[in-house]
Amino acid sequence: MENENVHISVLLEEVTDFLTKRDGVKNPTIFDGTLGGGGHTKEFIKNGATVYASDLDNTAIDTVRQSMGDDSNKKLFTSNSSFLEYLETFDNESFDGILLDLGFSSNQLEFSNRGFSYQKQDEVLDLRYDMERGEPVWKMISRMKDEKELGNILYRFGGEYLSGRIGRALHNFIIKQQGQAPTVGQVVETVTNAIPKKFRNKTNATLSRVWQALRIWVNDELNILTDFLPVAQQKLKKNGRLAIICFHSLEDKIVTKFMRKVSKTYELDEMGNRGQDYKILTPRPVKPSEDEVERNRRSRSATLRILEKLV
Ligand SMILES: C[S@@+](CC[C@H](N)C(=O)[O-])C[C@H]1O[C@@H](n2cnc3c(N)ncnc32)[C@H](O)[C@@H]1O
Repeated sequence: MENENVHISVLLEEVTDFLTKRDGVKNPTIFDGTLGGGGHTKEFIKNGATVYASDLDNTAIDTVRQSMGDDSNKKLFTSNSSFLEYLETFDNESFDGILLDLGFSSNQLEFSNRGFSYQKQDEVLDLRYDMERGEPVWKMISRMKDEKELGNILYRFGGEYLSGRIGRALHNFIIKQQGQAPTVGQVVETVTNAIPKKFRNKTNATLSRVWQALRIWVNDELNILTDFLPVAQQKLKKNGRLAIICFHSLEDKIVTKFMRKVSKTYELDEMGNRGQDYKILTPRPVKPSEDEVERNRRSRSATLRILEKLV
């Protein structure tokens, strides 16, 4: 089943319109920081773009290249690295469009064998996008000295209100394993047992929050996003656009705060004329239509925000 693409791109038409269908820009140069199943990238290329794309997961890059055949050589340049690292390599290049479609893809959920889904009971709880960097999340937990640390992570990155109990239980379980990798099934059981009986009807929601927190933590997702935004801001051409799709409020807060800060107007001269270098094109985030949510349930929590460089 490897190298199959089951990922459905979120807000595909909206993102393509914002980034490639522009007056005066015929063959845009686009940076797609999160290649994934390649849906956005392929649509950009169909609309005349040349795309520079990164993904931490080398399977994603191989799958997209295979599916495109020779076509991928002329219009698509890829890097198996983080979007921050790849964008920083462009000293003299700037882009008409930059996209991040954050998080994980359905391909990773289905085929990666890294425990991204709490339903895949037999997989090991690893949760890394790039298996060559860092260590699996269970090893990071096993090195924690203080059981409270894990609770703090579940609270900070998952908003989990039972974070203390669950963190303690999971930490104890992983220490008891004495270096043996836990399966998803074992972790689900440990977390479920830590939930008081009266809240057990909401176990799936708790598991989602725990998985989100662990994934954000092991991949350092929020720090990388925070560091990426000012670099992306510098790498936009005049009238270039930065598009970010978020799937939870922690990411969305970082993006909103950044876009608001850089789009502030300022006094330009002593006559009191005001200037503005960047403009938010989405005062309210773009959300998937009901139709899209029906076709692709995963899209229901997506928010798209766009910043344009004016000067
Ligand atoms: C939601 S998917 C992208 C889907 C893609 N837009 C499409 O249309 O198929 C997110 C992808 O970003 C990758 N990713 C997550 N964090 C990353 C990072 N810091 N740098 C590069 N890729 C990252 C994941 O491995 C995953 O393949």
